[in-house]
Amino acid sequence: MNIEERKRQAACSAAKLIKDGDVVGLGTGSTVYYLILEISKMLKQGLDIICIPTSIATKLLAIEHGIKVSSLDECSEIDIAIDGADQIDERLNLIKGGGGAHTREKIIASCAKRFVAIADSTKYSKTLNMPIPIEVLPFARAFVEKRLLSLGGKPKIRIAKKKAGPVITDNGNLILDANFGEIENPAELEREINSIPGVIENGIFSGMVNEVHLGTKNGVKILKPG
Ligand code: 5RP
Repeated sequence: MNIEERKRQAACSAAKLIKDGDVVGLGTGSTVYYLILEISKMLKQGLDIICIPTSIATKLLAIEHGIKVSSLDECSEIDIAIDGADQIDERLNLIKGGGGAHTREKIIASCAKRFVAIADSTKYSKTLNMPIPIEVLPFARAFVEKRLLSLGGKPKIRIAKKKAGPVITDNGNLILDANFGEIENPAELEREINSIPGVIENGIFSGMVNEVHLGTKNGVKILKPG
């Protein structure tokens, strides 16, 4: 089964958890794209839900597929949030932010009664070891870089692909991708990075997920913490 099909199956499996009347947090990325397609089908079969998108990209895609969108100002209680992940360790800690949307994604996941990650099995790793996306206030970039170096990280500013210069997030900030090698204690590193003045949010999601729906070559595996 190819990667796209694994993503699609993971997304469809998680979509089954959505109930009529739910307020649903909608993540960002290529796996969430399949979730949006599935929700769109479910709406045609009579499902009635409201979605809170985690990015401008997801908001536009949701509207294009006939999904009712709202914001945290209108609905601060989310029944279920479903989102992709860049890496998942065996204790179900995540790295997110490949699309630069992790700040809003973490807020939405924190508001949700249930937070479900969807991914294909290439994202699963014994320990987290990818560079961590860190959203940073532009004013504080040089200072934050120094502090990350002193924590043992190697930060690099994220450069845009179809725009000259750096990526600017939906919140008007920069992204630093900081390589810390193997991350033995994700919860501690998550706290340490967020305690640097000028850091808005980092992409480690430790102990947040209730379920992971992982698309494997043999179908979807549902993983739960503990
Ligand atoms: C965006 C994210 C995405 O959820 C993450 O990058 C996974 O994306 P994809 O499903 O495209 O692999 O954190 O900020």
